[in-house]
Amino acid sequence: MEPQRKVTFKIADDVMVYGDVSLLQVVMENLFGNAWKYTSKRDLAHIEFGVTDHGGKRACYVRDNGAGFDMTNAEKLFNVFQRLDDTGEFEGFGIGLATVKRIIQSHGGWIIGEGEAGKGATFYFTLDDQLQYESINTERKGEVIMAQT
Ligand SMILES: Nc1ncnc2c1ncn2[C@@H]1O[C@H](COP(=O)(O)OP(=O)(O)OP(=O)(O)O)[C@@H](O)[C@H]1O
Ligand SMILES: [Mg+2]
Repeated sequence: MEPQRKVTFKIADDVMVYGDVSLLQVVMENLFGNAWKYTSKRDLAHIEFGVTDHGGKRACYVRDNGAGFDMTNAEKLFNVFQRLDDTGEFEGFGIGLATVKRIIQSHGGWIIGEGEAGKGATFYFTLDDQLQYESINTERKGEVIMAQT
């Protein structure tokens, strides 16, 4: 798939989080999928995953140097069927980030997007500690395992 593209990936090693493995896989697929899609017009794309301090919280992030978006509409990104790109350059339904937000919230975390039109985007998310997650998902306690992203 798209072997002609030039993309550099910088992925932090050994990042450990608590969460539901299959749901967190959906999160990562959507965030990396968006990073991949919205950098498709770049001659040289950069996509990065890491962990940083965001407002005193340990947050994971996915960053790209793609099309970015205007921050004035940033909160709408997470609404179902809401797409900020109206140029028709990129295909999509506008459901990925809404799903991601629900998954992150069910883990007791938050997700925010920061971007600049034409420059790129970064999505930061937290997952709360295991105790909080277990109290939200008591019926699924047996499935709470450590996930390596
Ligand atoms: N990495 C990104 N760079 C620039 N804009 C983004 C990025 N990720 C999301 N967006 C903006 O947020 C909107 C919502 O993202 P979302 O993933 O929900 O939808 P989509 O990618 O358009 O479609 P779908 O994920 O359903 O295939 C996108 O239409 C786009 O405008
Ligand atoms: Mg998407």
